[in-house]
Amino acid sequence: MQKKWQVLITLDIPEIGIRMLKECCKVEVNKKDVALSKKEIIAKLRDKYALCCGAEDVIDAEVMDSAPNLKIIARYGVGYDKVDVKAATKRKILVTNTPEVLTDAVAEMTWCLLFCLARRIVEADNFVRKGKFKRSGPESLLGIDIRGKTLGIIGAGKIGTAVAKKSTGFNMDILYCEVVKNNELEKIGGKKVELNYLLKHADFVSLHVPLTSKTTHLVGERELNIMKKTAYLINTSRGKVVDEVALAKALNGKQIAGAALDVYENEPQINRELLGMRNVILTPHISSATKETRDKMSIMVAKDCIAVLKGEKLSHLVNPEVLG
Ligand code: 8YV
Repeated sequence: MQKKWQVLITLDIPEIGIRMLKECCKVEVNKKDVALSKKEIIAKLRDKYALCCGAEDVIDAEVMDSAPNLKIIARYGVGYDKVDVKAATKRKILVTNTPEVLTDAVAEMTWCLLFCLARRIVEADNFVRKGKFKRSGPESLLGIDIRGKTLGIIGAGKIGTAVAKKSTGFNMDILYCEVVKNNELEKIGGKKVELNYLLKHADFVSLHVPLTSKTTHLVGERELNIMKKTAYLINTSRGKVVDEVALAKALNGKQIAGAALDVYENEPQINRELLGMRNVILTPHISSATKETRDKMSIMVAKDCIAVLKGEKLSHLVNPEVLG
């Protein structure tokens, strides 16, 4: 096949997908570990028919209008809050994403963070490295039991459900907030409750909502004040779901016990106050970052870009209206 199709990949995705694309397309990859600016994306996108983009890339009408040949925006990830889907649909550009393949990786990361919070793993590691380990002191670095506690899941979609299901070995109570009843969670004893109830009763509050105008700052001062003083907040969804200023205030004032964040309001910038705090764990947006999962995501975006080129079926189309 003639390699007339040009693809822009804004982040250095696993080679497996790039190789697939290179068989039939001319591929340009941003190999740098910093995101391209909007101006750079526009400059590079001019002749491209496909765009594979990351979580931080803002793909709006202006970007789309700079690329008259653009047929597909393939999000390397599940969240497409930075892609103006309406604008894409209007321009008959297909938008795809990579759900399902990353569900368990994100759920496992959520549990990693939960464990680390409960047993103060990051603090304990620092303690050892700083030479403070003199003996196994009875009161040293005390954590809390996970077993028997209440897990609060805000957003019981695929990832929220997977997180809750992984709790069964810990004999936890599960509360969840979702618009509709989640039968999978009901089956394992999960209870659908209002947000305030969940915040009031959960020992671990975990966020799994997509970012929309409704979920922006879903957790702010009011919500943090409702939470138990002994509770922990975990965010592996989107940074803007949490009001970081309010969170820093709540952590400082011991309004809640701690937090673990994988995502931030202004990524990759981190709130300075949070950076200085002992009771918060900060990771660099790595919830889907396992070798196996990232390979699957890479294959999926490559397949979708190729499918558009060949007129074949796409795996996860966000805007099926485009196909009529
Ligand atoms: C990122 C994510 O997409 O799935 C998502 O929505 O945020 C992540 O998987 C990935 O890190 C690449 O930007």
